[in-house]
Amino acid sequence: MSKDTLSIRHNGTGHEVEYPLLNGTLGKQTVDVRGLYKDLDCFTYDAGFKVTASCKSKITYIDGEKGILLYRGYPIEQLAEKCSFIEVAYLLMNGELPNVEQLDYFDNEIRHRSMLHESLRHFFEGFSYDAHPMAMLVGVVGSLSAFYHSEMDMSDPEHRRVCAARVLGKMPTIAAASFRHSVGKPFVYPRLDLGYCENFLNMMFSRSSPNYIDPNFTVDDKLSKALNILFILHADHEQNASTSTVRLAGSTGANPYACIAAGVAALWGPAHGGANEAVLNMLAEIGSVDRIPEFIARAKDKDDPFRLMGFGHRVYKNFDPRATLIRKTCHDILADSNKDDPLFELALELEALALKDDYFIEKKLYPNVDFYSGIIYKALNIPVEMFTVMFAIARSAGWLAHWLEMVSAESAPIGRPRQLYLGETNRDVIPLAER
Ligand code: CMC
Repeated sequence: MSKDTLSIRHNGTGHEVEYPLLNGTLGKQTVDVRGLYKDLDCFTYDAGFKVTASCKSKITYIDGEKGILLYRGYPIEQLAEKCSFIEVAYLLMNGELPNVEQLDYFDNEIRHRSMLHESLRHFFEGFSYDAHPMAMLVGVVGSLSAFYHSEMDMSDPEHRRVCAARVLGKMPTIAAASFRHSVGKPFVYPRLDLGYCENFLNMMFSRSSPNYIDPNFTVDDKLSKALNILFILHADHEQNASTSTVRLAGSTGANPYACIAAGVAALWGPAHGGANEAVLNMLAEIGSVDRIPEFIARAKDKDDPFRLMGFGHRVYKNFDPRATLIRKTCHDILADSNKDDPLFELALELEALALKDDYFIEKKLYPNVDFYSGIIYKALNIPVEMFTVMFAIARSAGWLAHWLEMVSAESAPIGRPRQLYLGETNRDVIPLAER
């Protein structure tokens, strides 16, 4: 019997089958159970896909126990220190870091694709003034499908590349427009002379309008560097809920812009990208340092649904390497600018108390990337409702990389899980009058 197999025996029938164990370049062996239904007439049950590999991928590797995160083999720490977000997006989407000419071409293309079709821009006028920016983002990203029909032959690598560049280029423009609409400020057009993060900050915060360019607005260098790091750390995270959603939608051959919109929708939830917003709302609810023990007690109480937002992770069980990097940026920024804000004092105290608490230590619940990103965004004056939108801008690089990998694969079966049915068995309909 080969060592690279796993035998599964049906104890009812005595029938035993050997399944191959697949070896990746890194990580756990993975049993290929695709023959199970045919061989043993049963399915696997794995709610939440906790131990199920849904695809083969070469993009991102995570070792949750050791706290390792690699994009295309490069440690996240090195990428955050040495690269721009645009370089990292190129890496994720193309497999290699760009050389100078490749980066120049890519960066230029992304800048030139940052404009929105004027009619699409007018969509924002149709949204209520108090619409959540994520609601606008999900709608407008999906609506790209109604405007950009050219280059839609997904069997053509050039068409795929153009679609991906469009999304990456337009994401900050749509995100900033969502914010400007929600505060009643005029839309700011993207500028070709600004880099990705600077352009986004200009569209968010300058006092420009279609007829007026604010000559005095300059982008704070520190702010754009912090944003660059945050975007790199959030760019990809292998088969997380939103990326899996993009893959699942894409597996049907659906329109690529609609697939990315599906990813935006999945990211919105507080258990995923919505956590950074939830962290700030939780801190506001806690209100003062003396109430922290009460909230920690609630988080530990089995009968209370309250959880400490920004703590815990499905994959990282010792530490989240992104949180380690971001924690330093967070502490630097707080030390620098908003020292006196009671909310920051509260956040640091909560971090310190939870890290000492037995419940959190035993269950390996450490602050995750979203605990710190929310606090940094707040320190950078980004409104709380925009936090998940910021995550979406960054994660679009990962969504696109996974979508590209999937649609260019030789075989990409439609994603179609099975279920364990617990409903009624076959029964007859009783006519309405007799029920
Ligand atoms: N506060 C209190 N208890 C918690 C928390 C928390 N934040 N997270 C997990 N637990 C407990 C949970 O009650 C469970 O206890 P028990 O074993 O007694 O039933 C145990 O820890 C394991 O939790 P789980 O829900 O089975 O773990 P999971 O891997 O399914 O969930 C998680 C991971 C991130 C959804 C969860 O930790 C959570 O809800 N955290 C708060 C939300 C959050 O910060 N999300 C952002 C994740 S990072 C960004 C991203 O990648 O999207």
